[in-house]
Amino acid sequence: MMILVTGGAGYIGSHYVLYDRSRGNDVVILDNLVYGHKEAVLGASLVVGDVGDKALLDMVIKDYRVDAVVHFAAFASVGESVAHPERYFHNNVVSTLTLLDAMRDNGVNNLVFSSSCATYGNPQYVPMDENHPQKPVNPYGESKLFCEHMMSAYSKAHGLRFAALRYFNASGADPDGHIGESHDPETHIIPNILHAALGKREKVTVFGTDYDTPDGTCIRDYIHILDLAQAHSLAITRLVDGAPSDFYNLGTEQGYSVNEVIDVCREVTGKTIEVEYGDRRPGDPPKLVASATKAKTELGWNPIYTDLKNIVSTAWNWELNRKY
Ligand SMILES: NC(=O)c1ccc[n+]([C@@H]2O[C@H](COP(=O)([O-])OP(=O)(O)OC[C@H]3O[C@@H](n4cnc5c(N)ncnc54)[C@H](O)[C@@H]3O)[C@@H](O)[C@H]2O)c1
Repeated sequence: MMILVTGGAGYIGSHYVLYDRSRGNDVVILDNLVYGHKEAVLGASLVVGDVGDKALLDMVIKDYRVDAVVHFAAFASVGESVAHPERYFHNNVVSTLTLLDAMRDNGVNNLVFSSSCATYGNPQYVPMDENHPQKPVNPYGESKLFCEHMMSAYSKAHGLRFAALRYFNASGADPDGHIGESHDPETHIIPNILHAALGKREKVTVFGTDYDTPDGTCIRDYIHILDLAQAHSLAITRLVDGAPSDFYNLGTEQGYSVNEVIDVCREVTGKTIEVEYGDRRPGDPPKLVASATKAKTELGWNPIYTDLKNIVSTAWNWELNRKY
């Protein structure tokens, strides 16, 4: 099977590519390298270009005889989406529409889409299942929800079949240390804490200490990227076998506060980590924890890196030996 992986030079996409290639699938990556890294694709076919370029998509789909698409390419910073929503609606929504048109025009009907727990907004109950109301509190989450709506409409009108995977907080790195997380600027909490441990930054800032959580800091569900990769692989196989379109949460079902994550990082690294406590950031919900029962029962998903210490250890190994 030939899989087109958009954004496959990015953090989650490159780990999916590594995982799926080791299982014998062929991939072609389309990434404009705005945030991705050539080194992260580890020799897989890479076309450097933009998902918003319809002619390029048509060419890649035809030339590589693409059977299915895994669509990671997007901008993914909540804070930036609040400051520059236009970037998110253009790159995440309009480019996805172009991809859906290219798939329709070329008869490719199977799509796995990187959605997000950000589509839910503030939790009305936790753990959050797939039926939780979707009321995003920032343009990033809105952009992902628009994509879900577009895919549903294309599913009804044009026979597209998709799996929208709503990730909670992607974290960790390839345990063998070949690839890992490398964003500039880095907005994710675990690498930023580890950068403070390494002295690459003076301290780590915790945004908000007055949330309605036991220690006042935000609670998130951290899911290892190879467990995410496994779910994509299962979802693609199911779609190709004829499964209908559906939505799945991907998380460990366990929440950790920012202070707890910092403590685990101190334990794993054995380093002093300076912390600065700041104000809340706009658009940050207090607590996001997944119910992932549906992915486990319907996709047969079996996450294995569920212990936060284990996740942080893989990220720390990457930070000590980073290659890009
Ligand atoms: N990181 C998380 O915790 C998280 C959580 C939920 C959902 N997601 C989603 O997962 C996906 C991957 O996230 P990530 O953390 O790996 O981000 P990333 O920035 O590391 O990877 C995204 C990749 O897409 C590429 N890209 C962006 N726009 C493009 C375009 N128009 N054309 C071609 N390439 C383009 C970038 O260069 C980059 O390589 C995104 O869709 C993101 O919204 C991430």
